[in-house]
Amino acid sequence: MHDRIPLMGLGTYGRLGDDGIAAIRKGLEIGYRHLDTAQSYGTEPMVGRALRDSGLAREDVFVTTKVAQKKLAKSDFIPSVDQSLRDLALDVIDLVLIHWPSIDPDVAFESYVEDLGKIQEQGKARLIGVSNFPIALLERATAILGPGRLHTDQVEIQPFLQNRRLVDFCRSRAIVPTAYVPLAKGRVADDPVLAEIADVHGASASQVALAWLMHRGVAVIPASANEARMRSNFEAQVLKLSPEEMDRIAALDRGDRIIAPEVGPEWD
Ligand SMILES: NC(=O)c1ccc[n+]([C@@H]2O[C@H](COP(=O)([O-])OP(=O)(O)OC[C@H]3O[C@@H](n4cnc5c(N)ncnc54)[C@H](OP(=O)(O)O)[C@@H]3O)[C@@H](O)[C@H]2O)c1
Repeated sequence: MHDRIPLMGLGTYGRLGDDGIAAIRKGLEIGYRHLDTAQSYGTEPMVGRALRDSGLAREDVFVTTKVAQKKLAKSDFIPSVDQSLRDLALDVIDLVLIHWPSIDPDVAFESYVEDLGKIQEQGKARLIGVSNFPIALLERATAILGPGRLHTDQVEIQPFLQNRRLVDFCRSRAIVPTAYVPLAKGRVADDPVLAEIADVHGASASQVALAWLMHRGVAVIPASANEARMRSNFEAQVLKLSPEEMDRIAALDRGDRIIAPEVGPEWD
């Protein structure tokens, strides 16, 4: 049983149908023990099926899902988690997140944050957390739930958008930051500084980006449809970067946000 989110996870966005099941199953064979899905990805059934087919013990694999922004109303939140449990074919989900804060003025923040707490109290989620919450909303949610309840905030963190204020804030509250699009959707592979550091280690620029995040205590959920790249991303766990290399990567920050939908909050 994982008491904390494993720092290495597999993103499942886009892994649909039989090909999706096969890819997630391959991820489990490679060694991934943390799968990231969401109600809105449509990949919960693929994650559940791959998990069953793998023959792994349930407690060995950490599963995260996210309650969709359109399911945050009082009448929808808990039934949507019940549906996730059915789609995943699980008795309990390791970590349930609010995917995005609501933009609907009729859906009160207090209501869905309280529902998040309730699903943990009801034993439907072992751990709870949020996604796409800036510092101000983390503070509001903590005021409602009490300290120590939020396990993670899943946000965009990658070498060109390092989100340092938020990462430092999370650390100060024992919230594990989780990085989505940790490879900047593949763009890190073209960066000359990352490539130079990678060459020294006989590694790839993508592995350097992932190792840099994990060295900072940030969980990563890279996605790939390709077996070799899935394996290579997983192997980033053995890469050790020096303090000087960490400093060089820190200098790559340029506030370059990739995921910025209109439904998003006011970012830090
Ligand atoms: N909470 C949220 O709001 C949110 C938002 C976005 C994403 N997410 C989560 O984060 C996960 C990851 O995000 P993402 O897939 O958008 O971005 P990503 O992991 O940064 O990048 C994936 C892209 O990079 C390529 N790639 C993967 N490994 C590579 C490697 N070693 N070398 C070169 N290219 C590589 C992939 O192509 P190939 O498939 O061809 O390898 C794919 O095009 C998602 O699956 C999802 O679970 C969450």
